[in-house]
Amino acid sequence: MPNRIRIAPSILSADFAKLGEEVAAIDRAGADYIHIDVMDGHYVPNITIGPQVVKALRPHSAKTFDVHLMIAPVDPYVNLFADAGADIISFHPEAGPDVHRTLQTIRERGIKAGLVLNPGTPVELVWPVLDLLDLVLVMSVNPGFGGQAFLPSVLPKVGELRCAIDASGRSIDLEIDGGITAETAPKAVAAGADVLVAGSASFKGGPERYAGNIASLRQG
Ligand code: DX5
Ligand code: ZN
Repeated sequence: MPNRIRIAPSILSADFAKLGEEVAAIDRAGADYIHIDVMDGHYVPNITIGPQVVKALRPHSAKTFDVHLMIAPVDPYVNLFADAGADIISFHPEAGPDVHRTLQTIRERGIKAGLVLNPGTPVELVWPVLDLLDLVLVMSVNPGFGGQAFLPSVLPKVGELRCAIDASGRSIDLEIDGGITAETAPKAVAAGADVLVAGSASFKGGPERYAGNIASLRQG
């Protein structure tokens, strides 16, 4: 069975000029996880933030730091993000070179490990490593930018993962990321997702709206 629905605002849509205040505000507004999108301009066509920024944000919230790496390679950076305060590190199998080794490297640091599936990535990649995963992240847009439209074609993949996770008997988060709004969240939850990443929908309207934004995402 899915765990209770958790909301993971992506700080990609926050005001980067005052990121510490933004993280504190979205925490107070009811965020469960703080989703941090790390992009390198190589694996994806955008550049965002690195471990120094994660470290600087760490004192601003005690919530789970859910670090989504869109970088290649991954392995040389695992320790840097773990040292910076990541609680979960997720990465894309295409970033290579060896998914199993990267999962071991993350788990050896005593933090949670996640694998991310792009819309075009087959779900079968998860099965050989399911027992090493704490989280599976299904992308409902192609990674790289906030504010894109939700792709409902990924929902069957969420359903397959829900069945496999339930059958495993392990506690594995099933997270979805991209185009999540009050309208699309219920579809993702119905398919089996239990962690909803939302950038634009969490941060729209400024800090006085954050609690309402998160509450409407949770309705799903
Ligand atoms: C996209 C990122 C997402 C993004 C979501 O590559 O992984 O986390 O910030 O933004 P919205 O919710 O605006 O689609
Ligand atoms: Zn993300």
